[in-house]
Amino acid sequence: MLSSKRILLIIGGGIAAYKSLDLIRRLRERGAAVTPVLTRAAEEFVTPLSVSALASEKVYGDLFDLTAEAEMGHIQLSRSADLIVVAPATADLMGKMAGGLANDLASTLLMATDTPVLCAPAMNVRMWEHPATRRNLKQLQADGVCFVGPNEGDMACGEYGPGRMSEPLEIVAAVEAQFAAGPLVGKRVLVTSGPTHEPIDPVRYIANRSSGAQGSAVAQALAELGAEVIFVTGPADVPPPSGVQVVPVETAQQMSDAVDAALPVDAGVFAAAVADWRVASASDKKLKKSRDGLPVLEFAENPDILKRVSRMENGRPPLVVGFAAETDDVIEHATAKRLRKGCDWIVANDVSPATGIMGGSENAVILISDSGAEEWPRMGKAEVARRLASRIADALAG
Ligand SMILES: Cc1cc2nc3c(=O)[nH]c(=O)nc-3n(C[C@H](O)[C@H](O)[C@H](O)COP(=O)(O)O)c2cc1C
Repeated sequence: MLSSKRILLIIGGGIAAYKSLDLIRRLRERGAAVTPVLTRAAEEFVTPLSVSALASEKVYGDLFDLTAEAEMGHIQLSRSADLIVVAPATADLMGKMAGGLANDLASTLLMATDTPVLCAPAMNVRMWEHPATRRNLKQLQADGVCFVGPNEGDMACGEYGPGRMSEPLEIVAAVEAQFAAGPLVGKRVLVTSGPTHEPIDPVRYIANRSSGAQGSAVAQALAELGAEVIFVTGPADVPPPSGVQVVPVETAQQMSDAVDAALPVDAGVFAAAVADWRVASASDKKLKKSRDGLPVLEFAENPDILKRVSRMENGRPPLVVGFAAETDDVIEHATAKRLRKGCDWIVANDVSPATGIMGGSENAVILISDSGAEEWPRMGKAEVARRLASRIADALAG
């Protein structure tokens, strides 16, 4: 799948550098040639010898290496690749890239190139959430740099959260997506999916029956057409598709924040079943049975993500697609919802229990746009997703 592709792999100085050794193997298994570049700090984590042995290529590291410069100048090195992959992309490397610094071989190559760049960030959760990293990420996305990960999970430093580098096979999928041919190549699309969980106390929550199957299928169909997909998902029953950037969230507020962090995008597909309300003051201790009677829960309104994004004055995606799960008067309710929210399209469906759609494998949708309501026959969720992705591709092309 990657035969004859040349990947320039820049390995930054983070603990996840060890995973880049496996990444080299996986890329080469698929036929890619990998030219490795190690930063000075990366050499503290992996040895040039093991990197070179796995890549079967010389390892570059020094900007002022006369021999390397005579063999292949740094400008040529930066341009001879089909794709530059930065893995791990440390906070420092991302800062240099966003700021336009070029004070070592890796950063100079990144400045001197017009080759597409894919970053796999890896850092401590606090570093990832630091305002400087948030700014750098936004800047790099605006500059056209693509990202895979980071994932959420246990970190080498003992903390938990987003910041773990994507696994080698996830990076390979993102690399393959870069070479995918399709009408959505070069387009960045956000998809929200799944239910949200709104805590009552540390062990109880309010949820809904969304399985995430339709949102996941839409994300996969968009990725298959070549889009860079940011998949913001609540706790769904189905696994996320491969080849997309997964941002796991739990609550509506977290989903809203993740959506903001993903912008700008060319299209946003809001398939998540976001809870309208949350418990106004969730208890930080487990509620106990009490002789004084039943607990009374007060609710507060959650952010209306679809409406907020649809009505953004700056940064509104050129195409905003909402979903409407209705149980009666589907077309009438969904048409009203499109106008109320201000989105371009609504994908409406009847989720009454008798339809078996919620949690099932099929869907019967009505696409509502400014040209009216278009009823699609009942079909598998993957087929609905493919049709929708193809319509999105047509809309973004036109
Ligand atoms: C044990 C250890 C682990 C580190 N892990 C990371 C990491 O995962 N991500 C990161 O951004 N920085 C990490 N750092 C800090 C970087 O090594 C440091 O910022 C370095 O300057 C990055 O260099 P680079 O730009 O060549 O990647 C770590 C440092 C140490 C000592």
